[in-house]
Amino acid sequence: MTEYAKIEFEGKIYEFPIIVGSEGEKAIDISNLRQMTGLITLDPGYANTGSCISSITFMDGEKGILRYRGIPIEELAEHSSFIETTYLLINGRLPTRDELNQTSILFNDHSLVHEDMQIFYQNFPRASHPMGILSAMVNALRSFYPELQTIEEEINITVTRLLSKVRTMAAMSYKISRGHKVVYPRPDLSYCANFLNMMFDTPVKHYDIDEDLVKALNTFWILHADHEQNCSTSAVRLVGSGRVNLYAAISAGIAALWGPLHGGANQAVIEMLSDIQEDGGNYHRAIERAKDKKDPFRLMGFGHRVYKSYDPRAKIMKKMCHKVLKKLHITDPLLNMAKELEAAALKDDYFIEYNLYPNVDFYSGIILRAMGIPTNMFTVMFAIGRLPGWIAQWKEGADDPKWKLGRPRQIYTGPKKTQYIPIDKRCTQ
Ligand code: SDX
Repeated sequence: MTEYAKIEFEGKIYEFPIIVGSEGEKAIDISNLRQMTGLITLDPGYANTGSCISSITFMDGEKGILRYRGIPIEELAEHSSFIETTYLLINGRLPTRDELNQTSILFNDHSLVHEDMQIFYQNFPRASHPMGILSAMVNALRSFYPELQTIEEEINITVTRLLSKVRTMAAMSYKISRGHKVVYPRPDLSYCANFLNMMFDTPVKHYDIDEDLVKALNTFWILHADHEQNCSTSAVRLVGSGRVNLYAAISAGIAALWGPLHGGANQAVIEMLSDIQEDGGNYHRAIERAKDKKDPFRLMGFGHRVYKSYDPRAKIMKKMCHKVLKKLHITDPLLNMAKELEAAALKDDYFIEYNLYPNVDFYSGIILRAMGIPTNMFTVMFAIGRLPGWIAQWKEGADDPKWKLGRPRQIYTGPKKTQYIPIDKRCTQ
């Protein structure tokens, strides 16, 4: 039986249906609000606004729950692979063994990047940020693969190309930025092993694939694969709602992820921890600065719009730090500092009052550092992980025959009607 919410305005009572999600979440359906009342809603940052109905990912911020297509993130991190999780997110179910093998073969068949693209890379200034390069190059894929993406197989081949080539493109930008020879994908390597090999193999020093690192990279990308309607996913959906090609929508998502409040936080965390270390390791000062409202400084890697408890991904990431560092016989002073900083913050009244906990970005950089990934590529690593989620969310919109163009309203507070004054009649100052 449908419940209703009532709004009383200017002496009239309006009723709006309540939508209930499969986990009991409730929303007021205000699709007809303006038509019925002349009112719109105002919600800067959309903290109270649902943009869509989705069956892909479920998060409970109070309980620290994250599930992809109903499967808890802890189980996927433990048992799945990034390719299997990619299949789950995009197709809505786990693949059979045969389907999984087919997917891996497809990814290998489409892992190469058109040789002409190398010329683009070579013409970026060497110090260009890899996220800017990745966003531009993903958009450029459209020029090499101009299919319309109106029928299923054209969409599927575009999805395959994106998922497979993004690794090659990321590794290529790293190699070219260092003036090193580009390493090509190998058909005998798995998705993650191929990426590590393309990044670190050189003509003079063969890269030995370490299965523990391959497992760690699988888990790292599984943890990043989707996160319902976050900033960059909302960008992909909004840009996609204009019916632009998928490459352009994903390019917009990469640009949105770049910001330090979003995916760029993993790079900002390591820079923050390094600054604290150079400043003598006084992390208490960082905590005090984070609490000072006059100081724009924020504790990077802490806080979340949805999680008001420990980000379940951060818990897994923190455990992984120890495993990866132990395997590589690395002691990273930033890990110890991160743990001490976390412990001090979690005991601090300000962080308790604001429900600020470590998020996915707080420990992820430690693992990437240990793998040898350069700091300016940390957010590229996030983007590769998030790609299946962006695609799944775009597809969910595109599969809806009534997919509406995203176009929010506003409340105008500028000048009322004003006459145009010819330039020779304007006051001089
Ligand atoms: C990601 O949405 C997703 O799902 C994102 C993501 C994903 O997988 O896609 O999980 C990935 O982006 C994780 C978040 C990475 N960003 C950071 O670690 C940057 C540091 N964190 C903050 O900037 C902040 O916590 C946000 C941006 C993440 C969330 O901020 P909100 O929800 O917009 O909340 P807010 O900025 O309004 O903060 C509420 C209060 C403020 O105090 P008041 O002005 O109300 O007095 O909490 C304070 C903030 O000052 N606060 C912090 C803080 N985070 C929030 N104070 C100090 N340090 C922080 N980190």
